[in-house]
Amino acid sequence: MEKRDLMYEGKAKKVFSTDDEAICIVSYKDDATAFNGEKKGTIRGKGVINNKITNYLMKRLEKEAGIPTHLIEELSDTDTAVRKVSIVPLEVIVRNIIAGSLSKRVGIEEGVVLPRPVLEFCYKDDALGDPMVNDSHILALGWATEEELETIKDYALRVNSYLRDFFSSIGIDLVDFKLEFGRTPDGRIVLADEISPDTCRFWDSKTKKKLDKDRFRRDLGDAEGAYKEMLTRIFGA
Ligand code: TMP
Ligand code: ASP
Repeated sequence: MEKRDLMYEGKAKKVFSTDDEAICIVSYKDDATAFNGEKKGTIRGKGVINNKITNYLMKRLEKEAGIPTHLIEELSDTDTAVRKVSIVPLEVIVRNIIAGSLSKRVGIEEGVVLPRPVLEFCYKDDALGDPMVNDSHILALGWATEEELETIKDYALRVNSYLRDFFSSIGIDLVDFKLEFGRTPDGRIVLADEISPDTCRFWDSKTKKKLDKDRFRRDLGDAEGAYKEMLTRIFGA
């Protein structure tokens, strides 16, 4: 399978068309941005690591949790063939521990464990800064149907239970993460985008050391080392 035209370039990935109308190739970059693109940098080795971690987790989610995904096959260190889907314009955030924007919004310190997961939706629009929206916005504005929204919520919570247990088994607290979903040509919802240290908060269970993109966002140093540590822990599991 070969790349044809560049269809889309995002902040962390490029998407190419292929000879097959139904298949795209995603190519992961080392570029890192934060605060809606205001802060820019590079995390060396990130593209390879995020490609491998995403594919590993999506495969396990398909097999062991019954979550359909866009994954077809890994083609190289940075490139993966995926099903072409139309992305539902929502960032679906699941939280187990208070951190980041939730900590600021409700005035509770980072690290407080939630008694049940919190589910949030943001409307994917960079120009608007991805504003938070609720179910009634999503339905009234036609971003998803009622049935699709129920499927998305069910999948997001199932992904959370599966991943929380998996990460716990390798000594990592899954603090929170962001998912995106796509619609296949025949109208089914599948998990798309990535699941990586760019899109999750990972804390070492014992030391609470941050092993994710917050090291870049907050200038904590050694983001490269944190991404490598996550790759080693996941693939050693
Ligand atoms: P937040 O606390 O900044 O709202 O982030 C919640 C989770 O979503 C965190 O794991 C990081 C992830 N995230 C993204 O993947 N992309 C984004 O653009 C933002 C703001 C957060
Ligand atoms: N990737 C997002 C951006 O560039 C935000 C983030 O991950 O913090 O703004």
